[in-house]
Amino acid sequence: MQKASAGKAGKVTKPVKAGPREADRAAPYKPRGSRRSEGAAQTPRATEAPSPDDSARAPIEPQRTLIVRTGERPAERVPLILESQGAGDFHLIDSGAGEKLEQYGPYRVVRPEAQALWPKALPAHVWEKADAIFTGDTDEDGMGRWKFPREALGETWPLSLLGVDFLGRFTSFRHVGVFPEQIAHWSWMKECVETAGRPLKVLNLFGYTGVASLVAAAAGAEVTHVDASKKAIGWARENQSLSRLDKAPIRWICDDAMKFIQREERRGHRYDIILTDPPKFGRGPNGEVWQLFEHLPLMLDICRELLAPKALGLVLTAYSIRASFYSIHELMRETMRGKGGLVESGELVIREAGLDGKTPGRALSTSLFSRWVPK
Ligand SMILES: C[S@@+](CC[C@H](N)C(=O)[O-])C[C@H]1O[C@@H](n2cnc3c(N)ncnc32)[C@H](O)[C@@H]1O
Repeated sequence: MQKASAGKAGKVTKPVKAGPREADRAAPYKPRGSRRSEGAAQTPRATEAPSPDDSARAPIEPQRTLIVRTGERPAERVPLILESQGAGDFHLIDSGAGEKLEQYGPYRVVRPEAQALWPKALPAHVWEKADAIFTGDTDEDGMGRWKFPREALGETWPLSLLGVDFLGRFTSFRHVGVFPEQIAHWSWMKECVETAGRPLKVLNLFGYTGVASLVAAAAGAEVTHVDASKKAIGWARENQSLSRLDKAPIRWICDDAMKFIQREERRGHRYDIILTDPPKFGRGPNGEVWQLFEHLPLMLDICRELLAPKALGLVLTAYSIRASFYSIHELMRETMRGKGGLVESGELVIREAGLDGKTPGRALSTSLFSRWVPK
């Protein structure tokens, strides 16, 4: 059953169609490139296991091949729409005409939103009173792309969500240091960690400013956070202190996600929950190229190997890609053949909540997701 609901966050709004149980076996997935059978030897460089700190000096490693997965595909649950009406300091006030108006703590923020094809619900004078507007219409970096109509604002400000404190941040990429639609996954993860009755290990790939890592750590998990950007890791550590989690067991690793997980596989490290939120395109610290359409099958394949025997979930989110959620759903099911459990996939949406944060309006889709759970 869906476990994401926690307060107003992560509510399932659309009843899900129970998919057929696997009676018919589809032909095995045939990706480009070579594959090896389950249980076959690992890469020829299996003995190499540099510590994460060595990664900057590590040579380019060969990527291991995909494993041919056999067995039934997991049961499916599609479409699953995971909806947030906000949580803590965040809610979506209104959207429309290609923009969204969001509340982040004390500030109202206007950002472009291509999905918002409908008209704005609130009058223009409400939108005009925003504290920050992303313009993106200059060549300048950072703050130059933001306009502050009421008064000049600093680059950061304090925010709180699901019991963790962190900094909101006006970045040049129009992000604000947190992806609040992820609240649905984070609430689910928090509940898993809190109710597991044993210490869980969580791996957060492409972890950005660390909000998910902090939610997991605050709930009692041992966390490994991986991101290619030193700057983002710095922000995440700052957020750790703000959340008073300095002593929490979090490994902050600045590395290429693919390289890191291949090493973890060779080392035999295992995790109970894996979150992976890859961009469409990205670069590792040594210029390693991440291309979602090219590398996602292998990433999921390795993540499967990194799941502990009693793992509680593998969660994938995908933004800004020209694909249906079925693309990642079917990939997840093929990857998890023979593992049992359930693959549920769909979209993460945020429901408008009005000026008071309590008046439900239109649903704004933000991303696709697919997650495997053991039951
Ligand atoms: C969309 S953000 C992830 C958002 C985050 N999971 C959250 O919900 O707050 C993408 C992150 O991936 C990182 N990244 C890009 N390419 C990478 C790579 N090859 N290996 C590891 N991290 C990478 C970026 O530095 C960035 O922080």
